[in-house]
Amino acid sequence: MTATVTQPKCEIKDISLASQGKQRIEWAGREMPVLRQIQERFAKEKPLDGIRLVACCHVTTETAHLAIALKNAGADALLIASNPLSTQDDVAASLVADHGIPVFAIKGEDNETYHRHVNIALDHKPNIIIDDGSDVTATLIQERQGQIGDIIGTTEETTTGIVRLQAMFNDGVLSFPAMNVNDADTKHFFDNRYGTGQSTLDGIIRATNVLLAGKTIVVVGYGWCGKGVAMRARGLGANVIVTEIDPTKAIEAVMDGFRVMPMEKAAPQGDLFVTVTGNKHVIRPEHFEVMKDGAMVCNSGHFDIEIDLKSLGEKATEVKDVRPFTQQYTMPSGKSVVVLGEGRLINLAAAEGHPSAVMDMSFANQALACEYLVTQKDQLEPGLHSIPVEVDKEIARLKLQAMGIEIDTLTPAQVEYINSWTMGT
Ligand code: ADE
Repeated sequence: MTATVTQPKCEIKDISLASQGKQRIEWAGREMPVLRQIQERFAKEKPLDGIRLVACCHVTTETAHLAIALKNAGADALLIASNPLSTQDDVAASLVADHGIPVFAIKGEDNETYHRHVNIALDHKPNIIIDDGSDVTATLIQERQGQIGDIIGTTEETTTGIVRLQAMFNDGVLSFPAMNVNDADTKHFFDNRYGTGQSTLDGIIRATNVLLAGKTIVVVGYGWCGKGVAMRARGLGANVIVTEIDPTKAIEAVMDGFRVMPMEKAAPQGDLFVTVTGNKHVIRPEHFEVMKDGAMVCNSGHFDIEIDLKSLGEKATEVKDVRPFTQQYTMPSGKSVVVLGEGRLINLAAAEGHPSAVMDMSFANQALACEYLVTQKDQLEPGLHSIPVEVDKEIARLKLQAMGIEIDTLTPAQVEYINSWTMGT
């Protein structure tokens, strides 16, 4: 007998997509053994009992497993999209129909709807916010000061969100704890690098179906995401150029075997440009002007600000949809620039985001960060907090165990050696 689920309030594309969503969520679950163990423990221990929680995430099969963990934990959880173009509508439908979780997310929603959903989330009066890019936290601070007293804390998924939270803290407006999920080793080493690496190329290939072997791909930014994109692009036979503003990262890129140069020099050489900097207008009119005819540009950073699309649109004599998520802008010179995914995260717009196996660890961190906020709420000062190293290591240990991989342990003599300063040569 199946349990009846009361359908909560929601704004989704189509509830009849639920059975397809359910099947896809189950498939993703096969690659998420760490989060599954947390789901099971949370169902028994209910660590978030009575907590009102808002999750602002990309609504994907992987996020569905996080939402289920939160619900199992006893949280009164509501889910909204963290990007207008990343929602998987079938997943949203299944979360509503099969799990009774309120979801406000529709793939392709306009900016006004996106912001209305952020406000619906805040109307839920959250005690905990899981943010991906910090939009809910920023709106709370800017527009809902009266609700700050309800907040136990927030948890943040992305590099972009962490940069924003640090700026809030520096401005003296972050008056509650914020868990830095992004910087956990089991998050950024895997999600940002291998997740972005694979899913970005997946998005580009699904959008364009072009052969990447032999193409010149310009990777803009060599943080963890850029490293992943550059590594995987090279793996597919592309000739990779990296652009950077940070001298150390630039040396890293050089020693990893990539050509490094300013965008001004890379612009005429690239067949495809991928932005992953977290900053605005890293591709601008002066770059579009010198690009090859038919050059493709896309973004895998959090916000759609990295490519100056407004200027491109103003210059263009024609903008034409040539394939789903692929638009051709014709310039007055007759040359064209092809924009993928409207400059939004290409991996989530045209593909399905990072694979489940890496999101397993990212969302294990998210779930455990929420539990930590609740258990430590009387001790945590306002500002950013790292995921405790024991939690990070435990997630790695569980992942290895699930992968069937064993590792060594230190011998007693080794423990003594690394704890001693008297034993030299
Ligand atoms: N961010 C990147 N990939 C994701 C995914 N598959 N699910 C949720 N958030 C993501």
